[in-house]
Amino acid sequence: MTLAVEVKGLRFTYPGGRQALSGVDLEVETGERLAVLGPNGAGKSTLMLHLNGIHTPAAGTIWVGGMELGPSTVGEIRRRVGLVFQDTNDQLFMPTVAEDVAFGPANLGLRGHELEERVEEALARVSAADTAHRAPHHLSGGEKRRVSIATVLAMYPDVLVLDEPAVGLDPAGRRDLITTLAGLDVTQLIVTHDLPLALELCERAVIMDGGRVVAGGPTRRLVSDAHLLGRHSLEMPFEFRLVEEQQARERLLGLVRASRAFYAGDPSPAELEAALTALWVPLAGRVMEAELSAQTEVERAEVRKWSLLVEALQSAAEKAGAVKPGLLARASDG
Ligand SMILES: Nc1ncnc2c1ncn2[C@@H]1O[C@H](COP(=O)(O)OP(=O)(O)O)[C@@H](O)[C@H]1O
Ligand SMILES: [Mg+2]
Repeated sequence: MTLAVEVKGLRFTYPGGRQALSGVDLEVETGERLAVLGPNGAGKSTLMLHLNGIHTPAAGTIWVGGMELGPSTVGEIRRRVGLVFQDTNDQLFMPTVAEDVAFGPANLGLRGHELEERVEEALARVSAADTAHRAPHHLSGGEKRRVSIATVLAMYPDVLVLDEPAVGLDPAGRRDLITTLAGLDVTQLIVTHDLPLALELCERAVIMDGGRVVAGGPTRRLVSDAHLLGRHSLEMPFEFRLVEEQQARERLLGLVRASRAFYAGDPSPAELEAALTALWVPLAGRVMEAELSAQTEVERAEVRKWSLLVEALQSAAEKAGAVKPGLLARASDG
């Protein structure tokens, strides 16, 4: 199937010499919602501005629905790619909402009844029909965002590109936005710092940093990887931190219980197995890390105690023979 968007080797330097994109590769499947994550200055907005030809790359190629972006196709590609700017003031500038939504299709040549229908339909798709005759600058943040989306939907785009759509919205506005985006039957590229929003809307995400795509995969996997997020100045969503803390606490409790049973001299096979399942791999890893980083005599003594426990668990498990062989194999892999 043709990709909705394909970007290869995209490079761009702003006048003045700032290199904002240093070789972006990106593929967006038709119909998917893809989250684009990354720290400030990563080049996310610059990339979005390339997708409908606002910026011209120094190198690299962009295809939209298989059509290569170039001087002869930029008009058609601007219709196919609907860009929703980060700042709604860049999108809404007419006296009324209806005029703002009519602006694009009127430029395409629509008039009269057909144009009115297009406007009504676009506003209905974002649940903002009641705002048609109001002044954009009187709307709430959430309404402005949804109307901005309508101005783009009125062009019947194939791809909707949204730059930080949730920024500045209150919880109700954010929720309405999520419901709206989830209900739209169009390919979406969503640039966001709001990782829970990304998780809710997008099965897949990429992380940009330093002008390129540095990671990609299922959103759930990316946002639960504290190391990866930390490397790119992103913060794990609260729900995931809670789960991590909970798991760490349980591991610690398990450790205490297992070592008590062990030092009491007679751990049951079940206790040993539980200890190995819960502790062996993380514990062995942690002991290795601690060995490398222990600096004081007290820290080194602590590490020795832990590595004794690891060894003791291992030999007891081997003797007991009660542990599934697979478990030990897995443990020695780690
Ligand atoms: N109009 C501009 N002129 C010069 N440099 C810019 C301009 N816009 C962005 N930059 C620079 O390009 C880099 C990427 O910026 P941007 O695409 O806005 O990143 P993001 O959207 O990921 O925060 C940054 O270093 C930024 O300072
Ligand atoms: Mg930006």
